This record gives sequence, C-alpha cells and structure tokens, in this order.
Amino acid sequence: MWRSVLPLLVGVSLFLLQLPDYSSTQEALWQDYKHGLRGSEAHDKKHFCTWNCLLFTLQWPGAFCQSLDERKLCSIPQSINKWTIHGLWPVKVFHCCKCWPMFESDVQELDAELKEHWPSLLKDQPSFHFWRQEWEKHGVCAACVEGMNSPFRYFQICLKLRQQFDIQKLLEDAGVTPSCDRPFKLVEVQQVLAQHLGDKHEIQCVTDPKGREVWFQVKIPLSHNLTVGCDHHADGGPGWNSSHGHPCPPQAPLYYFPIDHQQPQRPCG
Ligand SMILES: *[C@@H]1O[C@H](CO)[C@@H](O)[C@H](O)[C@H]1NC(C)=O
Ligand SMILES: *[C@@H]1O[C@H](CO)[C@@H](O)[C@H](O)[C@H]1NC(C)=O
Repeated sequence: MWRSVLPLLVGVSLFLLQLPDYSSTQEALWQDYKHGLRGSEAHDKKHFCTWNCLLFTLQWPGAFCQSLDERKLCSIPQSINKWTIHGLWPVKVFHCCKCWPMFESDVQELDAELKEHWPSLLKDQPSFHFWRQEWEKHGVCAACVEGMNSPFRYFQICLKLRQQFDIQKLLEDAGVTPSCDRPFKLVEVQQVLAQHLGDKHEIQCVTDPKGREVWFQVKIPLSHNLTVGCDHHADGGPGWNSSHGHPCPPQAPLYYFPIDHQQPQRPCG
C-alpha cells in the first residue's frame, strides 16, 4: 500500500538557517508527551523500539490526488481547504506487529478534529480506515514511547503537532499562496518553512502529466522527544522507495496548485 511506503530519503540540498525559539509550544507538547525512553528503559528500547526519528508528514490536498494512480478515486471533501496530516512515522521500521487493533471508540473524542485535519482523500476509504491503517503501519511502532502508547495518545500528539506546524499560516504570511501560473523557487519555500520546521524538513513533489513539479507533501523530522530536526539519514538499514513522490528538484520551478474540489486530480489542467 502506498501509504505504508517511506520514500527513500535522498538529500535535498537545504540551507542552514537558525531555528527560532518556539519553546512555549514545545514545552506544552513536552508536557503532554511526558518523556521518552531513557535511563533504565534504554535496555528495552533495544528490543522493540529501534527507531531514532519520526517523520511528521503533512500533505497538500491540491496536489495529493496527483500523487495517486489514476485508478484510485480521489475526493476532497468541500470543507477541506488546508494542509492535512498524512502521518507520523518512525523512520526505517520495516513493519509493526499486528498486535494492537484500533477501534473507532479509541479516538471518538478526537473524531471531529481528526476529520478536519486528517481526512481520507480517497473516495472508497472512510477516514477511520485511513487512521486505523496509519496506526497499524506506523503508530504501533511509535507506541514504544510512553507519550504515544495508545491510539488515543498517538492521534492526540499528531493533532498537536499539526497545530504547532501551521505551515498554512507560515506560507500565507510569506506570500506563498496556491496558484496555477506562478511557480516558486524551492529555496524560497524552504526558507519560509525552515523558520519553524528546521533545516532538515523535506519538500516533496510529484511530476504532473505536463511535466511540472508539483508540491504535495512536507516531511518534518522529529526526535523521540518531538524536538525538530532528527538526522534520520544516518540511521542504519535500507530505505524505502516510493513510487509516488520525490524530493522536489532544487532547480525546477515549483508549483503550489490550488485545491480544486471538482477536479482534484487536475487542478490546473
Ligand atoms: C530531545 O532529544 C534530542 C536528541 O536526542 C536532544 O538533543 C535534545 O536535547 C532533547 N530535547 C529535550 C527538550 O529534551
Ligand atoms: C530506489 O530506486 C532507485 C531507482 O529505481 C534504485 O536505483 C535504488 O536502488 C532504489 N533504492 C532502494 C533502497 O530500493
């Protein structure tokens, strides 16, 4: 399944920028998160908590549908006009055990918020199935850390991360707004995002049928303790190749297409 694939993370040349202080949000997150594995727990970590980094991945509905095979029917609910969550993925984990089923009642309290920020964009996939799939493929592996050790906590953390990384606002404030005609430079976008996402974030594109590089996803590397900027390229083990999406080429014009609810797969012809 495409959602389970962690793309091979080849280096995108990024500019080193200083991280700003956003410690109040970080502190709040930290309180919720409590603490990760450390000290005496480090021993257990060896056995079942093998990852060092998480990728918090946001997707842009305006181009997401273009990243899918044609046969997959894409549908963007009318209410969806913002960047949405794709997932929170421990890096370089081959598979998570199928040992922790998730039920709708687990995230009932978060349902409205999840529907708003983490909708399924596939016609034949109810949002809950998307969430459950993400939990089973990634969440179960993340759950070796105390603050994420239940479906409820995992999804709650994800919602808080989305709030923290409000890239919609960041982009709007910087005048980076969706357009069919106006291409951006990758470095422009990176400079805007780096203020909050760190210099290791990854901007991913799909190539549309007209050969344009279209921005559809951002990956934000995080440490166990949810601090921005984890060096996952150094993690051992083989990577994954994604059949969909790749790091946006630094030299090509970068398109940030508007969302077209009527024609989600072809927002700009
Ligand atoms: C979070 O983890 C990173 C990497 O392990 C570490 O460098 C950093 O100091 C930690 N931050 C906090 C607030 O504990
Ligand atoms: C990813 O795909 C490229 C091109 O098809 C291939 O050369 C490379 O070996 C693949 N990497 C992995 C880790 O599968």
